[in-house]
Amino acid sequence: MNKYKIVSLLLGFALLATLVRLVYVSQEETAVQAVASKQATVFENILNRKSVRSYTDRAVSREQIDTLLRAAMAAPTGRDMRPWKFVVVDDKETLAALAEQLPHHKMLPEAAVAIVVCGDLSVVDDKGEASRNWTFDCSAATENLLLMAEAMGLGAVWTGIHPYDERVTAVRSALELPEEIIPLNLIPIGYPKGDPQPKDKYNAANVHFNGW
Ligand SMILES: Cc1cc2nc3c(=O)[nH]c(=O)nc-3n(C[C@H](O)[C@H](O)[C@H](O)COP(=O)(O)O)c2cc1C
Repeated sequence: MNKYKIVSLLLGFALLATLVRLVYVSQEETAVQAVASKQATVFENILNRKSVRSYTDRAVSREQIDTLLRAAMAAPTGRDMRPWKFVVVDDKETLAALAEQLPHHKMLPEAAVAIVVCGDLSVVDDKGEASRNWTFDCSAATENLLLMAEAMGLGAVWTGIHPYDERVTAVRSALELPEEIIPLNLIPIGYPKGDPQPKDKYNAANVHFNGW
């Protein structure tokens, strides 16, 4: 082999190695950019969530409700027990009846739908015991649902039912809930009226590193 052939061969290998490296680096950069963009989207959605208590008369479809419920049920639960039930109220008469019986729910007749997140004490473990974590589990589901609503351009608000006995009784009677089903909160949902803004609640004084 003459020296020109050897040089050409070496140059060919160098070119190939550079191309392989370029493809590898650009793939890595794309992956890093994808993570950064996902992080920004999720963080922005979390920061933008706010309680919305006034709604337009635009309808919310059953498909949208299904998406909200899928987000809710993706939440973590203690020992994966999923001790919950979700009661969807999209009947205007029932929404009005709930508003009448509850003290702080004047927004309900305006809402397109309300979802009542309930603990289900009939869900038991292998010792026959109900979950002791049901309030935490249902709260995690609620936050998932609120974040999904924000991402879908919907407005919603967490309104507490349990542990206020009079509210639990009111919801139980309006929705004919059985004894083992405990309404934890009720989430009115609709398209936001006006321009509700999120609050900036970050406070560095609430954070302690490596002990108090
Ligand atoms: C456990 C709990 C109970 C709440 N109950 C009510 C309620 O009964 N009525 C209401 O209008 N908002 C209720 N909220 C919403 C809070 O008032 C609201 O989250 C808080 O003011 C912070 O505002 P933001 O959600 O816009 O960040 C409740 C929130 C939580 C977490």
